[in-house]
Amino acid sequence: MKFPKHFYWGAATASYQVEGGIENNDWAQAAREGRVPSCGRACDHYNRYEEDFDIARELGHNAHRFSIEWARIEPKEGQFDQKEIEHYRQVLQALKERNLTPFVTLWHFTLPVWFSESGGWQRKDAPEIFARYCSKVVAEMGDLATHYATLNEPNVYATHTNLYGAWPPFKRARLFWLKVGKEDGTSEMTGAKARFWHFFSYLKVANQLARAHRTAYNEIKLVRPEAQISVVKHVHYFHGNGGRQNFLLAKIMFYLQTARYLNQIADCLDEIGINYYRNTGYGETQEYKLTDMGWKMAPAFIYEVIMQLTRYGKPMYIAEAGLADQDDSDRGLYIWAQTRAVGRAIEAGADVRGHFYWSLMDNYEWSLGFEKQFGLIHINYQTLERTIRPSAYVYKEIIENNGIVE
Ligand code: BGC
Repeated sequence: MKFPKHFYWGAATASYQVEGGIENNDWAQAAREGRVPSCGRACDHYNRYEEDFDIARELGHNAHRFSIEWARIEPKEGQFDQKEIEHYRQVLQALKERNLTPFVTLWHFTLPVWFSESGGWQRKDAPEIFARYCSKVVAEMGDLATHYATLNEPNVYATHTNLYGAWPPFKRARLFWLKVGKEDGTSEMTGAKARFWHFFSYLKVANQLARAHRTAYNEIKLVRPEAQISVVKHVHYFHGNGGRQNFLLAKIMFYLQTARYLNQIADCLDEIGINYYRNTGYGETQEYKLTDMGWKMAPAFIYEVIMQLTRYGKPMYIAEAGLADQDDSDRGLYIWAQTRAVGRAIEAGADVRGHFYWSLMDNYEWSLGFEKQFGLIHINYQTLERTIRPSAYVYKEIIENNGIVE
C-alpha cells in the first residue's frame, strides 16, 4: 500500500507538555496551588529542540507538529515579547534546516495567567484577544511556516475545564442531582465543586471557541492570505452494534462531540487536523486490550473517523494519534495498524495529506503528570537522556517506504 507523494510524516508535541520552564500560564498556577502535578523543566525541549529534531530526522520524518506557548509570546495583555518570537523563529529555522515541514499549533490548552484571571474564554472579548495573538504570530513567522492550527481540541478542552472540573479553571457541572465527571482522585485533587451553573459556562466556552477560531481565521488571512488554517479536532469514534437505538446514540454523540463544532466553523477552514485515540461501541460485546491510559486499543477505527469527516470536503491531516505504552510492547503494531487504516482511507478517496504520531517524546500528560508514556523517544526525567524506542523504527520503515508492507 503506497501513500501519496509528498505525504507529510512526523510526530507531534505541545509547548507546555515538553518545553519546561513555563511559569506564567494557568497550568503552572494550578500546580503552585497543588491542584495538578507540577511540570517543571519537563523534557527541556525549549533548550534541546535541535537535538530532538535531529532525532526526528534520523527517524525519517519530513514534517513536525508543535505548538507555540501563548504565555511566552504575550506575557502581559497586549504586550508581545520579541525575544520569545525570535525563539520560535529559531525553532522554525531549525526545522527548515532539517527539511521538516512545520505544522504550527497556536494554542494547545494553556492560557496566559492574565487571560485566565480576567475570565479566560468566558471574557466577552476573548475571541478578539486570541485573534490578535494569532495574527501577530503568523505575521512574524509566516515566512517560515504555512500550516497553522488555531485551536487544539476545543471540545476536549471545554469538557475537561467546565464540565468535569479536571483542568483549570476546575469547574464541574451538576445536572440536577447528577454530578458530571468522575468521582476519583482527579476531582479530589482539583477540588472542583459541582455546580448547576457550570453547565452554562461550558456552553459559553464551547461557543466562544468557535467564535475564537472564526475571528482568528479572518485576522490571520488579512496578514498572510496564503496561510493554511485548520482546527485540530479530537474525534472520539462512536459506533452502534445490534439494536437501532445504538446506531442512533452513536449518531447523536458524533453530532454533539464533533459535527456541531465543525459545522459552526466549516466556512473558515482550509484544512482539518484530526486527533484520534478512542472509541465507544454502544451495545458492543467485543473485548479489547487496553493502553496504559486504560483506553481500548482500536487503531484501525481511524479509517471510519477520517471517512466521517470527508463530508467537509477539506484536506485533512492526522494531527495526533498514538498510545501510552511504557514498555513499547504494543506501539509498533499499533502504528502499523493505524497508518494502514489511514492508507485505506486515502485509497477510498479521502484527501489525507499527513500523519503525526503522538508524541515525538514522552511528556507531561496534563493532570496525570509524567507517568504515561506516549513517546517514540523515551525521556529519562532525571538525566533528560533521550532513548529511541524500537517502535520508532517500525514507523521509520513505513515512512521510508512511503507505504505499508503487508
Ligand atoms: C491532547 C494531548 C494529549 C493526548 C493524550 C490529546 O487529547 O492533544 O495534549 O497529551 O491527547 O492524552
